[in-house]
Amino acid sequence: MDYFHYRSGRLHAEDVDVDEIAASVGTPVYIYSCRTIELHIERFREAFSALSPLVCYSVKANSNLAVLRICAAAGTGFDIVSGGELFRALRAGADASKIVYSGVGKTAAEIEQALDAGILLFNVESQAELEAISAIAATRGTTVDVSLRINPDVDAHTHEFTTTGRARDKFGIAMEDAEELAQRWGDFPNCRLIGLDIHIGSQITKPGPYALAIEKVLVLRDALLRLGHEIRYFDIGGGFGIFYRGGEAIPAADFASAIVPLVEGKGLDVILEPGRFIVGNAGILLTSVIYVKKQSGKRFVICDAAMNDLVRPSMYGAYHRIWPARTHMPFTADESVDTPLADVVGPVCESGDFMAKGRPLPRVEEGERLSIFAAGAYAMTMASNYNARPRAPEVMVDGASWSVVRRRETFEDLIRPEEEPPAEI
Ligand code: LLP
Repeated sequence: MDYFHYRSGRLHAEDVDVDEIAASVGTPVYIYSCRTIELHIERFREAFSALSPLVCYSVKANSNLAVLRICAAAGTGFDIVSGGELFRALRAGADASKIVYSGVGKTAAEIEQALDAGILLFNVESQAELEAISAIAATRGTTVDVSLRINPDVDAHTHEFTTTGRARDKFGIAMEDAEELAQRWGDFPNCRLIGLDIHIGSQITKPGPYALAIEKVLVLRDALLRLGHEIRYFDIGGGFGIFYRGGEAIPAADFASAIVPLVEGKGLDVILEPGRFIVGNAGILLTSVIYVKKQSGKRFVICDAAMNDLVRPSMYGAYHRIWPARTHMPFTADESVDTPLADVVGPVCESGDFMAKGRPLPRVEEGERLSIFAAGAYAMTMASNYNARPRAPEVMVDGASWSVVRRRETFEDLIRPEEEPPAEI
């Protein structure tokens, strides 16, 4: 469910005609819907209400301050994976005591920064990291709360690049290694083991892998309790899939009905880290057609958005619905309908620069605008300046009003951090 819909053949974000935004700020532009973000937070909370979880929005999905502020105002915590994300979350008014810090490569500087901020806990992903945190905490004369991120060796059946819970993936600590670390916890005197954590992948569309991983980790929890560790937190991670085509994912309530019975009544404080579920369908990328080119029996619709604005199709073969912003024709993915096929591509100099291939798309003219849907998550946060393309602006719509929450980059922005080498070099 989202608040992007056609009214009299014109695409609206909430009550705003997206053409009005494009006319003012140009294209490409990311357009977000505030109400959709709020709705998804509410839906997610409702689904898992039996657990009264701490919902930590995963900042990497969309880290614009306006998005983070909406989450913070709704009372979410944050899941971060870098010093930059911590900086952003705090700047947006996050409550540091609701921040959890995941990631396999936290640097000493980042650990110090998180300790200064007073985050809730670190999700520790290796013995080496545990040693580093304990050593840093010792220099401060403090004890730090940590969870162990467990690699449960469960396949979440997502794209190869976003499956994170198999033994061969770089994430987390194997079950048996975690138990061994817990047995000799005295080696990490400045860390207190208070939780267990998993995150098995992203765009997961079935509850089975969660159930499997949770059952495994609960067995480990019992073992750690016997060793005297008060394991209070259980972080189940993110990964809850959304509709890109329609119909591929399941509602949050269906994930919840598989997960809740496994953890309810076990004296655990549950943490959840949804990213895509909150913002994925809360954004579109609006682009204009620059040229239409027919070649070798194919139709290429060449747009002003490109792989540097949305890398998901070229990186993961991801599907994003694309449809004109002005049309009376209802969206169809059905290739048998009388809609000519098109490759929707950008100006970047790579054959891998495409937003869609062989898609039904009504005839479009130069200058027409197309909406690339479900671009609220992992679009702007993965954007780059490749081909010296300034990054597109971000707009937040709230009801009938809208505002630019990140301006379009300028050419000057592109070179701002660069310096000329001294003359003698
Ligand atoms: N927690 C941790 C530790 C994570 O690594 C992630 C995502 C999440 C939570 C949030 O996952 P979500 O609920 O958004 O699925 N760029 C890829 C997705 C990479 C996800 C990385 N980790 C894509 O565009 O599909």
